[in-house]
Amino acid sequence: MAATRNTNPDEIFYRGADSFFSANAEIGLTFDDVTLATLYSDVLPSQTLLDSRLSDLLHLNIPIVSADMDTVTESRLAIAMALNGGLGLIHYNMSEKDQLGEVSRVKYHVQGLIQDPIKVSPGQLIGDVLKLIEEKNFGFSTFPVVDEKEKLVGLLSGHVVKPRYAAKRVSESLTPRAQVHTITRNELGKDPIAIADKFFTEHLGIHKLLVVDDEDHLHGLITMSDVEKITQERKAQFKPARDAQFRLVCGAAVSATRNAFGELDRERILNHVSALVERGVDVIAVSTAHGHSKGVGDTVTLLRDAFPKLPIIAGNVTSGAGVEYLADCGANIIKVGQGPGSICTTRIVAGVGIPQMTALYVCSQVAQEKKVSILADGGITKSGDIVKALTLAQGVICGGMFAGCTEAPGEVVEIGGKLYKQYRGMGSLAAMKSGSASRYGHDKADTTRKVAAEGVEALKEACGPVDRVLANLIGGIQSGMGYLGAKNLEQLRSKARYIRVSPAGQREAAPHDVVELKTKN
Ligand code: XMP
Repeated sequence: MAATRNTNPDEIFYRGADSFFSANAEIGLTFDDVTLATLYSDVLPSQTLLDSRLSDLLHLNIPIVSADMDTVTESRLAIAMALNGGLGLIHYNMSEKDQLGEVSRVKYHVQGLIQDPIKVSPGQLIGDVLKLIEEKNFGFSTFPVVDEKEKLVGLLSGHVVKPRYAAKRVSESLTPRAQVHTITRNELGKDPIAIADKFFTEHLGIHKLLVVDDEDHLHGLITMSDVEKITQERKAQFKPARDAQFRLVCGAAVSATRNAFGELDRERILNHVSALVERGVDVIAVSTAHGHSKGVGDTVTLLRDAFPKLPIIAGNVTSGAGVEYLADCGANIIKVGQGPGSICTTRIVAGVGIPQMTALYVCSQVAQEKKVSILADGGITKSGDIVKALTLAQGVICGGMFAGCTEAPGEVVEIGGKLYKQYRGMGSLAAMKSGSASRYGHDKADTTRKVAAEGVEALKEACGPVDRVLANLIGGIQSGMGYLGAKNLEQLRSKARYIRVSPAGQREAAPHDVVELKTKN
C-alpha cells in the first residue's frame, strides 16, 4: 500500500520570498545564487503583459530603464528605449544646457521624422556628395538642398548621384523647389505618421516628404519606408512609452550639487529642474552612490516641495531604512543597488554593498509599506536576472547591457577583428573628471587629495541596435513568466518561489560539456 504523504515537498524546498529570504538571512544572495521554481501554467509567454506602473504618473510598457551613465544614455538611446516601451535616464556628465538639449531631442522626437537630415548645398559637386556618402557610410543617396540660410532650394535625387555625373554641380542636377513635395510643421499635427501615410498613398511614386516652416526653412524629412515600418510597428505587442501629449517619455538624472561653501546649491538645482520640467521631462532621478544621505534627502525634499506632482527616482540604497528615508523625503521610486554593476568597484574599494537579490528583498519590504516602487539597479547580465529581479522590484536599470548598442554614445573601435564600444563606471576616474564626482561624494575640482575611484573603464562588444537587445530580453522575461504561470508582473511578484543554487548547480545552469555553435540573427 502506498504511504500517504502528509507533507508537501514543494512547500519545503521551494519557498515564497518571505520564508526563503528569512531562512537565508545570514547570507547575501545575488541573481546566480537563486533559481525560480516553475508552477502550473495556462499562460503562454506571448500572452504575458510587461507594463509597469512606477508611480501614479509614470507608466512603462516594459519594465526596463537604461542607466544614467555617460557611456549609456543620451537622447539616441533614450529615444530607442521609449520607442520600445521603456525609459532612458539622460546622464548628467554634461553641461546643464546640453542636458536640456538632450531631453528636448527625446520629447520632440517624431518617430519617422528625421529632424536634422543630412543636407547638401547648391555649390557642391556630385563628386563631393559621392565622397560624403562613402566617408560616412550613408545607406541613402537622396539629399535636401538648402542655401546658406537653411532655406530649401530643391531635392537631390539618388538617381543623379552617380559617378558619371561627378563633375556636375548640385545646382544643375537637383529637382527644383517648385517640384519638391513639402508639408509645414503645423500641417503635420498630432499624428504626423498618419498624415504622411495618407500623403504617400495619394502621391503615387513619391517616397520623400520634406518638412518646412512658413519661411521655407528645412525642418525635417519623412521617408515612405520609415512610415511603412512604423505603421507595422504600431501593431506590435509593446507600444512606445508616451506621455499624455503623445510624446516619448524621458528621464534626466541630477546630482546633489554643492556650492563653493560645500552647501547644497538649492538655487542651481531648482533652476535646472524647472528648465527640465519646462522641456517636458517625465521623471527626475537624484542619482548618487549613497542615497541614504543628507545631501540626497535634502535634494529630494527640495524637489518634492517645488514640484508636488513630479515623479522622482532617488538612490542608491540597499537597506529598508534607506528606502524609508527617501520615501519620506518624497521620492516615488527608489534605486536599489550598491556595488553590483559590471563596472563597479565599490565593494572592493569601500568594502560596502549588498548582493542584489538580498538587497532587493529587504528594500521591497519597506517599499510596500511606503507605497513606493523599487528599481533593481546593476548586475544584470542576462534576461533570467531580470526575471529574478522582477519578482521583487517594479523594474530594472541596465547599463552594461546597452553600452555596446549602436545608439549608445561613443565610437566603435576594432580590436583583434572584434568591434567594441567604451563603457565606464560613473565612479571611474575619467568619468568623475568629466563631472560625476558629486555622485560619489567628491568634488571634481578637488585636486588636493587622492580620490579613490569606485568604477573601472572598460569595453563592451558592439551588439547592434537596442531593438535587438530588448527583443531578446523581453523574450526571456516572457518565457520566465510563462514558466511561473504569471500573466503580468504583479502575478510574477506574488507567485515567485525560490531555492538556492550550489556552485555545481550554477555550472549546470549554463551550457556545459559541449562546443557551442552560434547562428547569427
Ligand atoms: P550594470 O551592471 O548594468 O550596472 O553595468 C549599471 C549600474 O552601475 C552603477 N554604477 C556604478 N557603481 N561604481 C559603482 O560602484 C561606478 O563607477 C558606477 N557607475 C555606475 C549604476 O547604478 C548603474 O546604473
